[in-house]
Amino acid sequence: MNTEDPHTETLIPLQKHLFDIPSEITYLNCCYMSPQLLSVSEAGRQALFRKQRPWKVTIPDFFEETEKTRGLFAELIEAEPGDIAIIPATSYGVAVAAKNLEVAPGSKILMLHEQFPSNVLGWQELAQLKNAKTIFLKDPSNSGWTEIILDAIDESTSIVALPHVHWSDGRMIDLPKIGHRCRETGAALVLDLTQSLGAMPFSVKEVQPDFLIASTYKWLLGPYSMGFLYADPKHHQGKPIEFNWIQRKHSEDFTGLARYEKEYQPGARRFDVGERSNFMLMPMVHAALQQILEWQVPKISKTLNKLTSEAANWAEQIGLQVAAADQRGPHFFGVGFPDGIPDGLLESLSKEQVFVSIRGKSMRVSPHLFNNLQDLEKLFAILKHQLG
Ligand SMILES: Cc1ncc(COP(=O)(O)O)c(C=O)c1O
Repeated sequence: MNTEDPHTETLIPLQKHLFDIPSEITYLNCCYMSPQLLSVSEAGRQALFRKQRPWKVTIPDFFEETEKTRGLFAELIEAEPGDIAIIPATSYGVAVAAKNLEVAPGSKILMLHEQFPSNVLGWQELAQLKNAKTIFLKDPSNSGWTEIILDAIDESTSIVALPHVHWSDGRMIDLPKIGHRCRETGAALVLDLTQSLGAMPFSVKEVQPDFLIASTYKWLLGPYSMGFLYADPKHHQGKPIEFNWIQRKHSEDFTGLARYEKEYQPGARRFDVGERSNFMLMPMVHAALQQILEWQVPKISKTLNKLTSEAANWAEQIGLQVAAADQRGPHFFGVGFPDGIPDGLLESLSKEQVFVSIRGKSMRVSPHLFNNLQDLEKLFAILKHQLG
């Protein structure tokens, strides 16, 4: 009889050989920064030497690599390449969204309690400019976020700015439901998926956000200082936050740049950051996205969920608090300590070469495909010992 778990065939086997992680290191901190894939480092190594010989950098190089990478990101979220802009950080994407959304005086911009600042500060600035209000929805403690958000969205809401999971404890939001509610009331939906995209399936067709933003250095396994912005086609006539030559129509013709073309390249390309071709980082992002698409996000998600589910049980067995399984994301979870976070916790874990992070009242446990259950066992064995 086959006693194997019927889901095992959809899980991805350990991928540690694709990373440079010494055997003594237990890295469970992708929420902070994912380790770079060897293929991404190799792409970066080759890119580093490219400008040593600029005569080999051709005009099509300014465009082709960007377009290929834009296409891979579009595939990841079920969008079209023309819906995607290249940006350097989440905050940049929020600034673009803020410049292009209507905000009536007195209207509300909704966010979560202790949301990540890159998806807050731009909205505070906008609210001040337009005489609108920023509302931080209260922490749901043991219940889920979704109902709280749904209840708060009404006709006086201009913008709902959210993640897919809260960055400090991994509690999840049902985005298709939120998208539906926003369309009912006419609120714009802006998503920062930096802490989920690449590890949680997501489709713009299902959620229909106005704008979606993701930096690449966490769950997209890419480098620091790169990101993507999705803009719904209804915003493709919008205004960028800065004006650069490559966003403009006919920018492929380097002899004609001083005609100062008024029209833009098609779609969301008008929002591309200056020097977006980024000869150093773009090939790295491309390699990272290729690997993620090859693994397939639903499989990454299932595989990580198996690790985090098991580990969340261990956490509960030693008296620690975690959100219920149906309220947390598949790829990471936050651990609460009923008597507060023990002093020197991170230091004592790092002495044992175990790496996690603390945000707010939560210790984040965020593995990836280079981790196995033994890594998580090690973490919880140390915690059990420490807590007596
Ligand atoms: C939810 C979330 N969004 C965005 C970022 C990064 O933002 P930025 O690219 O603006 O530095 C982080 C980093 O921790 C994050 O947790």
